[in-house]
Amino acid sequence: MMCLKPKLFVTRELFADVIESLEQYYEVEVWDRYQPPPYEVLLEKFKDIDAAATLLTDRIDCNLLQRAKKLRIIAQYAVGYDNIDIECATKLGIYVTNTPGVLTEATAELTWALIFAVARRIVEADHFVRWGEWWRLKTGWHPKMMLGVELYKKTLGIIGLGRIGSRVAEIGRKAFDMRVIYYDIYRKKDLEEKLGIEYKDLDQVLAESDIISIHVPLTKETYHMINEERLKKVKKGALLINTSRGAVIDTNALVKALEEGWIAGAGIDVFEQEPIPPNHPLTRFKNVVLVPHIGSATYETRHKMAELVAENLIAFYEGRVPPTLVNKEVLKVRSPGFK
Ligand code: NAP
Ligand code: GLV
Ligand code: GLV
Repeated sequence: MMCLKPKLFVTRELFADVIESLEQYYEVEVWDRYQPPPYEVLLEKFKDIDAAATLLTDRIDCNLLQRAKKLRIIAQYAVGYDNIDIECATKLGIYVTNTPGVLTEATAELTWALIFAVARRIVEADHFVRWGEWWRLKTGWHPKMMLGVELYKKTLGIIGLGRIGSRVAEIGRKAFDMRVIYYDIYRKKDLEEKLGIEYKDLDQVLAESDIISIHVPLTKETYHMINEERLKKVKKGALLINTSRGAVIDTNALVKALEEGWIAGAGIDVFEQEPIPPNHPLTRFKNVVLVPHIGSATYETRHKMAELVAENLIAFYEGRVPPTLVNKEVLKVRSPGFK
């Protein structure tokens, strides 16, 4: 018996081999422009689809979900899902999946790239060479040229000791013999033991760390968790790294902290609004390294993320629980599959 395949809308170009594997199960439509589909386009498309593969730039709110009468599953191509109204999806019986784990190494490595870039002034030093300042000074080497700070045996403070946070912590311990302290809503005693790290409250982490790295998800509780009051508690000379979500930090407070020297530098991958304009206040500081949300951006990881999106969609199609289901409570509302 021939059945119609369920309709899947993929909101941006993924990898061709993964799309092909999905085509065995779904009638696939891919939004092939570089820019995201506007909200109005999502409203139109979602009316008629059974499944969606989304990106963190797609606003999947309750208004959209309520109009998506046939929609059964959203497979997000990211580990973070703060762009999706999960509570609303669960009530409507819509499954939401994400891509945890496969991007942990890439994001931890980018975190370290930012730590090094800020600590050793890599971007500033490149500009110094590239734009002729080194040449103009007629000095090949000077005891005080481009001094940075060392990481060896310093204190690393992790905010959010999850998959990525604990990997960043482990690298700090093993590679640079750092003292690692962390804050999380839950104490993780097994990890404390395994990695040789200590739990502290948030204010202590801010006050004692030489490098502070943020790895919490964006939620109602973590929105502007790092505000002006908290930034004032940061240890003098410390560096702040954010590869989680922009809105975990109050950007205006961060700008003030940099202006007034409460922090000595920052490495930022994520912003409250993305993209930021070239005249954004953060672009004024030499001691800030800015990158365009590229935490998971390696060939290996982006492909693995696409594969995991496909695994989730295929499991659901076959009536199985998707391997990385976010809203487990949805299982009580509706069983997996299109039947
Ligand atoms: P994860 O394993 O869920 O880790 C998040 C950690 O934060 C968990 O230990 C969690 O505790 C903790 N947490 C949650 N709410 C908290 C709060 N209010 N206060 C303190 N700690 C809290 O997630 P992950 O895979 O490491 O990813 C972390 C985040 O990084 C993602 O949500 C995403 O936003 C971001 N990310 C960014 C990029 C990028 O491209 N820059 C790439 C990947 C991920 P419990 O688990 O105990 O609740
Ligand atoms: C990227 O930011 C992700 O959440 O995967
Ligand atoms: C620097 O290049 C040194 O030899 O110390």
